[in-house]
Amino acid sequence: MDSLDILDEAFCKPSIIIDENKLSIEYLPNYLPFRENQLKTLVRYFGKIFQGQLGTKRAIITGPIGSGKTSISKKFGQWIIQKSEKAGFNHLRYIHINCRRSKTPFMILLNIARELNSKIASRGYAADELLEMIVEILETEHSTVVLVLDEIEYIIHKGGVELLYALTRTSDDKQNVNHNIVLILIARNTGFLKYLDASTNSSLGAPIIHCPPYKKNELESILNNRIGECFIPNSVSEEAIELIADIATKRGGDARHALELLLIAGKYADSEDSTIVYPEHVRKAKANVDPSLLRETLKDLAIHKLLLLYGISRRLRQTKAAYITTGEAEHSYILAAEEFGLQPRKHTQIWEYIQELELLGIIHTQKSGVGQRGNTTYISIQDTSAYELEQELVPRLQTISHTYRK
Ligand SMILES: Nc1ncnc2c1ncn2[C@@H]1O[C@H](COP(=O)(O)OP(=O)(O)O)[C@@H](O)[C@H]1O
Ligand SMILES: [Mg+2]
Repeated sequence: MDSLDILDEAFCKPSIIIDENKLSIEYLPNYLPFRENQLKTLVRYFGKIFQGQLGTKRAIITGPIGSGKTSISKKFGQWIIQKSEKAGFNHLRYIHINCRRSKTPFMILLNIARELNSKIASRGYAADELLEMIVEILETEHSTVVLVLDEIEYIIHKGGVELLYALTRTSDDKQNVNHNIVLILIARNTGFLKYLDASTNSSLGAPIIHCPPYKKNELESILNNRIGECFIPNSVSEEAIELIADIATKRGGDARHALELLLIAGKYADSEDSTIVYPEHVRKAKANVDPSLLRETLKDLAIHKLLLLYGISRRLRQTKAAYITTGEAEHSYILAAEEFGLQPRKHTQIWEYIQELELLGIIHTQKSGVGQRGNTTYISIQDTSAYELEQELVPRLQTISHTYRK
């Protein structure tokens, strides 16, 4: 048998997973159980758009990771587009932008502009020119766009405040306004609002649609539905489903994590020629699944923020305390920067980093409570262990720090 035969054999080997695509993060299932109220609320606020009527112009969707925020928004998008096609109303657009992936206001505007007109070149324009073009296209078409800015917290400290200001004001200096921008912002919580100026905030004075973490029985039912769509019947044991739901409940009711575990457990079962997924496959999957979100978040952080985070996690681990003060964090960061041969940033800059890390949900801050002295801010890490975070950070810092060293 040569290697080609081995490849053939692996290729022909039966799998208990019939359709892996339906387990990917991009996949939008037909039915989203436990989110009916949120979907109905969206329809209540914006439902008449497809008839050319405007009710509410803004909304904010909040909820932890994997609580279905992106899915409900896209489902609503499908619904209004379908409705408007049926009604023969062709002035409606739905544009969904992920701010973490787009990274800058410029890229966000470019992506919007190119969704509206794919011929727009990707170079040669400034951000404000792009915004002008967007408004011009919408005006010419007499269009309403439902613009979803997903994971908005990622750009708040990178020009997102100005972007939101501009997007809420596109009709200000116009006599006859022939366009509408309906904004739906998605974030883990409403923390980002405090960085907006008063007028943007008031024009965003938006209703909040919250997606709470999924409960264990809800995750079980989401898993069962999905298994029905993409696994061979009866190939996932009840115990395995329960274990996945249990793990994902402890991880903050995260449906994404549950589905990720399901896929990997399925692959372990396949690789062992087992026709059934058992709890042992889930345990293996758990041990091997990336703490993916943490990794993804870290990937987008610049070196000094990583150093600060490293300083914080190391200090938390060393002191075994639940909290450290910002002073301790700063000190620990300076040591870390020196260790990696970099010039530490100044105090005010560090303070900004702390706020940004908090907005991204990696650290939590809290003012000193009653009975504690002064006006100190305390920092904690709740979602991962400080040790795990350090383990993630060290190799990353080692790899990237020399590119910064002079
Ligand atoms: N109610 C639900 N029913 C079925 N699948 C769901 C449901 N909520 C979330 N999911 C699935 O879980 C994953 C994460 O959902 P997503 O909408 O991306 O969450 P968020 O945007 O809040 O992080 C997606 O793969 C999605 O298909
Ligand atoms: Mg999302």
